[in-house]
Amino acid sequence: MRSAALLSLATAVLAWDNKTIDTFYPDIVDPEAVVQTSGNSSYSAIPVGSVGGTPDTEQYGEYNYCFMPHPRDDTYELPAEKDAQIVALTYVQRHQKRSAYHTFPEGEDIAYSCSDFLPFLYGGPANRATQRDPVVVYASTYSDESVNPFSTTHDPNTTCQFPQLTSGGFADGITHGRDLWAVYGDKLGLLPKYPTAETVWLRSSTKALTQQSAGGVLRGLWPYLRDALPLHQQDEQIDSIGSNFPCDQRDAYDAAWKKSDEFKKHMEVLNPLQTKFKTAFKTNVSDWNSDWDHYNDNFQARLCNGYPLPPSVDDTAANTVFKAGDWEYNYHYVTQKNATDYIKLKTGVFIGELVAQLQQVVNGTSNIKYHHVFAHDGDVAPLTASLGIKTLRWPGMGSNVALELWKLKNEHYIRVLYSGQPIRSNLGDLSWIKFDDFVSKWTGQAVPKNVFEECKVGN
Ligand SMILES: *[C@@H]1O[C@H](CO)[C@@H](O)[C@H](O)[C@H]1NC(C)=O
Ligand SMILES: *[C@@H]1O[C@H](CO)[C@@H](O)[C@H](O)[C@H]1NC(C)=O
Ligand SMILES: *[C@@H]1O[C@H](CO)[C@@H](O)[C@H](O)[C@H]1NC(C)=O
Ligand SMILES: *[C@@H]1O[C@H](CO)[C@@H](O)[C@H](O)[C@H]1NC(C)=O
Ligand SMILES: *[C@@H]1O[C@H](CO)[C@@H](O)[C@H](O)[C@H]1NC(C)=O
Ligand SMILES: *[C@@H]1O[C@H](CO)[C@@H](O)[C@H](O)[C@H]1NC(C)=O
Repeated sequence: MRSAALLSLATAVLAWDNKTIDTFYPDIVDPEAVVQTSGNSSYSAIPVGSVGGTPDTEQYGEYNYCFMPHPRDDTYELPAEKDAQIVALTYVQRHQKRSAYHTFPEGEDIAYSCSDFLPFLYGGPANRATQRDPVVVYASTYSDESVNPFSTTHDPNTTCQFPQLTSGGFADGITHGRDLWAVYGDKLGLLPKYPTAETVWLRSSTKALTQQSAGGVLRGLWPYLRDALPLHQQDEQIDSIGSNFPCDQRDAYDAAWKKSDEFKKHMEVLNPLQTKFKTAFKTNVSDWNSDWDHYNDNFQARLCNGYPLPPSVDDTAANTVFKAGDWEYNYHYVTQKNATDYIKLKTGVFIGELVAQLQQVVNGTSNIKYHHVFAHDGDVAPLTASLGIKTLRWPGMGSNVALELWKLKNEHYIRVLYSGQPIRSNLGDLSWIKFDDFVSKWTGQAVPKNVFEECKVGN
């Protein structure tokens, strides 16, 4: 009896149970799904447990926009193959929670404060032994309506440099890193106690908020580290993170996807809410109304950082907005007709880089055990789509893809986790797949053979 009780307790906290994972995969293909109030499209998309950061233990593992789940000791399952050894981890995450990108063009009913978080910005000589260190300086954002008249309308009294990380995002980063250490450091012995250039390779986008996230996550991983660490970056003009390189065909897909009948239907279903918002928030300008991105961003940033929604937005309206955001991500990256070709051009170069690095570990020409990339929703979304994700809700703050490389009897295997759980994929079971099979399945459709040719319009 006792062991039965223990067993059921163990089952209850296991993240890899279908009910928990189901929260990532609601039925949202139909444009009408966002306004449906019954059936399996009627999920709540309002971020749970968001204000305090870490959600309740019972709910941990469920989709949570403000602080997405990640590999964590109490919910992490070892592979069934007991003799397998983990040899490397490639980990791509979105930054942690932040202030808004999009505040209302004529001002907000709240004043965003970021004065409890200091964005350090300074440079210094590489030779720190013989040359003077810089003074440590940080950005201190202010607005003063007595000298800058625009301060009265646009974000009055803010101390945030939008979309900077918030102190809550930094705290979440520390938790994220500490949890990764518990799994990949303590439990699996993969991560080194001290990060060296031979074993650890870190990369970020060129944006401040991914670097600020790295500062938190890496502190969680290595609490006593005193040295500075390199965060590898590419030239912003050609960065494969963010898909910044020139590519006309990718741009053509970006210009086309909102012109489809499904997308028009999506906007039409939500037209009454849009009309109401245009008046309420003085947002009758095109960039607020071509999709639901900006309202999502504005409301998410409020809820994730402890601010109320605007008084005129009730839970039903907020839920509809968040479901509209989920619908748009799923349509853009998974269900639209051109999705596969689009993703290849959007993120195929980045995928090629991730695969090449893993291939070097398999070939024995690299000793990198840990490759961590700090990126954006616009990177995590096409990455999960390239991995065949069955349904894509908006990849929330700190959402992550783990590509675990394992070795069993001289054979290498991959295990793909999305937000700490096996990804449900149209490519088949990616929870244990031979490395070579994985690479051909994944890169066959996701990496351009000749990106210059394929980027030409109508190639
Ligand atoms: C969980 O779902 C998978 C398929 O998605 C199925 O094969 C498996 O039987 C389910 N497990 C349980 C306990 O329902
Ligand atoms: C949603 O419901 C439909 C029909 O009721 C079913 O076919 C589908 O599998 C369900 N989807 C999920 C994710 O449970
Ligand atoms: C900004 O703060 C000042 C000083 O606290 C206050 O007088 C002013 O009303 C505030 N402005 C807005 C637009 O909230
Ligand atoms: C798909 O791509 C083709 C070729 O670029 C374009 O003509 C078409 O409008 C696109 N369709 C959608 C739904 O984006
Ligand atoms: C938005 O602006 C357009 C064009 O200026 C106008 O026709 C429309 O009535 C406005 N809508 C709202 C809700 O204010
Ligand atoms: C690794 O080995 C494979 C198979 O032997 C080879 O095709 C590939 O070029 C090698 N790749 C790297 C990055 O060394």
